[in-house]
Amino acid sequence: MQKDIKSYHDEVNKFEAKNVNDVELFRIKFFSKKGIFSLLFEKFKTLPNNEKKIIGKAINDLKVEAKNKIDYFKTKFKDLNFSGEELDLSRNIISNSIGSRHPISIVKNQIVEIFNRIGFVISEGPEIEDDWHNFSALNLPEEHPARDMQDTFFIKNPETLLRTHTSSVQVRFMENNTPPIRTISPGRVYRNEAISSRAHCIFHQIEGLYVDQNVSFADLKQVLLYFAKEMFGEDSKIRLRPSYFPFTEPSAEVDVYWGLKNDDDYKITKGTGWLEIMGCGMVDPAVLKNCGIDPDVYSGYAFGMGVERIAMLKYGVTDLRMFFENDVRFLKQFSSAL
Ligand code: DAH
Repeated sequence: MQKDIKSYHDEVNKFEAKNVNDVELFRIKFFSKKGIFSLLFEKFKTLPNNEKKIIGKAINDLKVEAKNKIDYFKTKFKDLNFSGEELDLSRNIISNSIGSRHPISIVKNQIVEIFNRIGFVISEGPEIEDDWHNFSALNLPEEHPARDMQDTFFIKNPETLLRTHTSSVQVRFMENNTPPIRTISPGRVYRNEAISSRAHCIFHQIEGLYVDQNVSFADLKQVLLYFAKEMFGEDSKIRLRPSYFPFTEPSAEVDVYWGLKNDDDYKITKGTGWLEIMGCGMVDPAVLKNCGIDPDVYSGYAFGMGVERIAMLKYGVTDLRMFFENDVRFLKQFSSAL
């Protein structure tokens, strides 16, 4: 047995560790449950009493030496990791990543909140719509050429379809409420369009509707200017261009001033400095009538805007598809927003 102890003794003396891993292996070899010391003590128990004293001391000496060796290398490698590399104690700990709101939701919430502040209430309608609410009630009878403006996904042609705009919610709201009406309707809409950087078959709109006595175009202009300033800053400028929508008369398209400072501005605004953000107008009396509201007593304005378009403007995103791909590297950039 003494011979064994002697050879372990030499092993301990010669032991050199290159890294923490080596030290750990050495510790396991000598001190674990089935390690060398357990084995030696097992044998020790069987020795005759006269040998116990001398062998016991040899085992204890070996133990102290092995322990010292371990302590020595442990101190030496204190700031190194298992592969012997220096630990960078300034590195961030890996934390759980918290999800963030989607940029479309952020912008939608902002828009809704801006209109909430001046008394508009939220309303919603179904994404699977009928012909009446999406088209007919809005002055777009079956054979009307304006239906060509929107490529529709029909579920059951011609009666059931995926709504092509949130204007359908206007109709539902007017059918179920009496003036004064002030409502804002956010939601998803669908169009059978080829997907590109500027168009998608799914997108989001926000519809606004105001109906009361003596509502004028001046009221509409004022609320649009208020919106632009709240959304894009106090210095924002807007302009209204005459346009056509079957459900409003007169109708207009609203542009915000984007600027013409660099090449990108020229590209984005097609050289005008202005960017279209929504359609609007005075609700056509025929639409009010279709929804059970007397056009001789009441008038109103309506507007509809694309959420993606506003988000692109706000965050300088140049490809609409990014909002739908859900690449976390893109989404993470919005984690500090509301
Ligand atoms: N529904 C129209 C579209 O999808 C947008 C729109 C224009 C809505 C004028 C309105 C409006 O309420 O008055 O293109």
